Amino acid sequence: MREIIGSSTLGILKKAKSLREKGKDIAILALGEPDFDTPEFIKEAAKQAMDLGYTKYPPVEGLYELRKAVVEWEKERGLEYTPDEVIITCGAKQGIFSVLFYLIEDEEVLIPSPYWVSYPKMVELVGGTPVFLDTAKEKLTPEILEKHITERTKVLILNSPSNPSGVVYSLDELEGIAEIIKKHDIFVISDEIYSSITYDGPAPSIGTIPGMKERTFVVSGVSKAFAMTGWRVGWVLAPQHEIQALKNIQSHMLTSTSSISQYAAMVALKKGKESVREMVEKFRKRRDLVVKLAGEIENTSFPEPHGAFYLFLDVSYYTKNTARLAEVLLEHGVAVVPGEAFGCPGYIRISYASSEEEIKKGMERIKRCLYARTF
Ligand SMILES: Cc1ncc(COP(=O)(O)O)c(C=O)c1O
Repeated sequence: MREIIGSSTLGILKKAKSLREKGKDIAILALGEPDFDTPEFIKEAAKQAMDLGYTKYPPVEGLYELRKAVVEWEKERGLEYTPDEVIITCGAKQGIFSVLFYLIEDEEVLIPSPYWVSYPKMVELVGGTPVFLDTAKEKLTPEILEKHITERTKVLILNSPSNPSGVVYSLDELEGIAEIIKKHDIFVISDEIYSSITYDGPAPSIGTIPGMKERTFVVSGVSKAFAMTGWRVGWVLAPQHEIQALKNIQSHMLTSTSSISQYAAMVALKKGKESVREMVEKFRKRRDLVVKLAGEIENTSFPEPHGAFYLFLDVSYYTKNTARLAEVLLEHGVAVVPGEAFGCPGYIRISYASSEEEIKKGMERIKRCLYARTF
């Protein structure tokens, strides 16, 4: 039997919510999803979908009208694909898993750390070996990348904007990385689930760089951009023959994600630009607030968060055992995710998918706890 450890980010959240239910005052800065509700027009679309008869098995690759909407949506970011080069998945998570399942037999997968908590486990589940590239202090450079490539390397997982750091790669930086990818003839899984949530300019995609389309799997979805985490709609963009392979896997795995969700996601992509813009503006205010408050905590630092809704605080001056610190912080009334979950002890991830009040309260508690050194 396989021994599989569940997502630690979900574990902390569960604990925090249970303490709150028992009446404890907890500032939750650990959410991995927007705290906003799905916009009303998207919910209406789901109701309409049922009335229109979107109640049968959808095609394995997803509804054509949704794949078309995805193509239009991604085209605005410079990604040139046709509906045949899109597969709809049950969230970005399943998209990444399917691509890994397709690509990996026993090869190595390069994962810059800090990484999204599920990448290493997914790689292990499909029989691969995760190889970590330390990018806590500086972004991935062509030199660091090349140093870690062996004859067993198959793919690099890139995540920009990043969970947990909010770091965004510029086109220049991506071009440097792309050169090495092409030189060594490997693939990229580009997790772009936060691409709509940026504050200081767009997040470019490595898939737009000449020569990269044939070796890139762009993964994204509606979860974060439209506050639709529960609807489970994501997608993968890749050349048609790769999509066909993913389709074959998906046909035996889940057929497709809910047709009602797919219809609603289609409406979200077609009519939802304004709602994304409004949400990003709210997040921007909180980003500015959390950057200011984190900047006031002595002997800590963080990479500038330009996207997503996280700040990754280096608290290693105080402790390297941030798993323990997170427990103590919870006792002090604030929930954060320790860096260990992302391969970086000595850091904590602060999510600002919470109200300004909660952010202020939580940041004050973090500061007090660090200064008191009661961990
Ligand atoms: C970096 C990253 N990739 C993928 C996902 C999963 O997204 P989805 O809800 O579309 O499965 C998340 C969710 O937290 C994430 O943070």
